[in-house]
Amino acid sequence: MAGVRVELAGRSYDVRIGGGLLRDLAAQSGALLRKPRVPIVTDANVHALWAETVEAALGAAGKEARWLIHAPGESAKSWDGLSRTVEWLLAEEVERGDHIVALGGGVIGDLTGFAASMLKRGCGFIQVPTSLLAQVDSSVGGKTAINVAAGKNLVGAFYQPALVLADTDVLATLAPRELRCGYAEVIKYGILGDAAFFDWCEAHGRDVLALEPDAITRAVTTSVEAKARIVAEDERETSGARALLNLGHTFGHALEAETGYSDRLLHGEAVATGMVLAARYSARKGYLAQADAERIASAIAAAGLPAELSSLGLKCDGKALTAHMLHDKKMDAGTLPFILLRGIGEAFLDRAVDLADVAAFLDGELRGT
Ligand code: GLY
Repeated sequence: MAGVRVELAGRSYDVRIGGGLLRDLAAQSGALLRKPRVPIVTDANVHALWAETVEAALGAAGKEARWLIHAPGESAKSWDGLSRTVEWLLAEEVERGDHIVALGGGVIGDLTGFAASMLKRGCGFIQVPTSLLAQVDSSVGGKTAINVAAGKNLVGAFYQPALVLADTDVLATLAPRELRCGYAEVIKYGILGDAAFFDWCEAHGRDVLALEPDAITRAVTTSVEAKARIVAEDERETSGARALLNLGHTFGHALEAETGYSDRLLHGEAVATGMVLAARYSARKGYLAQADAERIASAIAAAGLPAELSSLGLKCDGKALTAHMLHDKKMDAGTLPFILLRGIGEAFLDRAVDLADVAAFLDGELRGT
């Protein structure tokens, strides 16, 4: 088992990574689960797959799993999902010193973390992420939120878990498309800050996607180490360090908005295309060698992720895509910060990007020229 410590003064916590952690849930959680009844928030898909394992693990320690089971998908990450969660936790008599288990992907982690942040002014929670995307990104760092009518993740809190258990065995149940989406966030850490890890991803991406044990453990561990470093430096995204994690996301959110946040383009796929666009736009601005931008595009394509904007079948122009960007929650005093690249492994924040120029660039990418 690998371990990474997220260092945050009085709120530091461990991320444990490896196979078999779910089977060992009670021992791994130790004194955090201080009562016989353990409140677990999950969704119906994850419950169907893992309830038996969890109940056996807790039962062997003399504990009982108490389940709140949401419908799968983004709909749980809503005011309704939040009030249902908080009311259930109150009915379960969860106290401030207790820990709620968030068992699921990013939706369940974000929702449960937000509920924990407000329950009795803040109780504990343990992230047990079951998707690759959640293991390498959303379960670590304390961003919690729900979606509201005005946009995604617009209501939430920075609220850190007490422990993260990333069981790599559970990834075997993921659909290949979902696994590839998580891999987009893995390779992102190489592109934004670690050229050697990008080299490794080029050589071993196939092994990661095949869930070869050493490769998947190294991919998750290196990703979590990178995220832990960045979160320790800039927990609340104020100094700019954490904003680098948004590489590919400004372009990606515009693509998600244009495709209606649907199965047509999943978040990880949008981020993958977005990273290629950020790299090519960096080359257009003279920051990045064109050859490096194309190397990034090749690595994304080799993982079976969409590298080419022209292949998405969008019917819009570049201006329509930049119009979506104006609703980005990263808008700051009328400007939209972009994460661009000076090299592979050298992301930086550019606050002076001209959206008309971005629209012209996107017109070319939409045509595939
Ligand atoms: N997913 C980006 C962050 O945690 O800051």
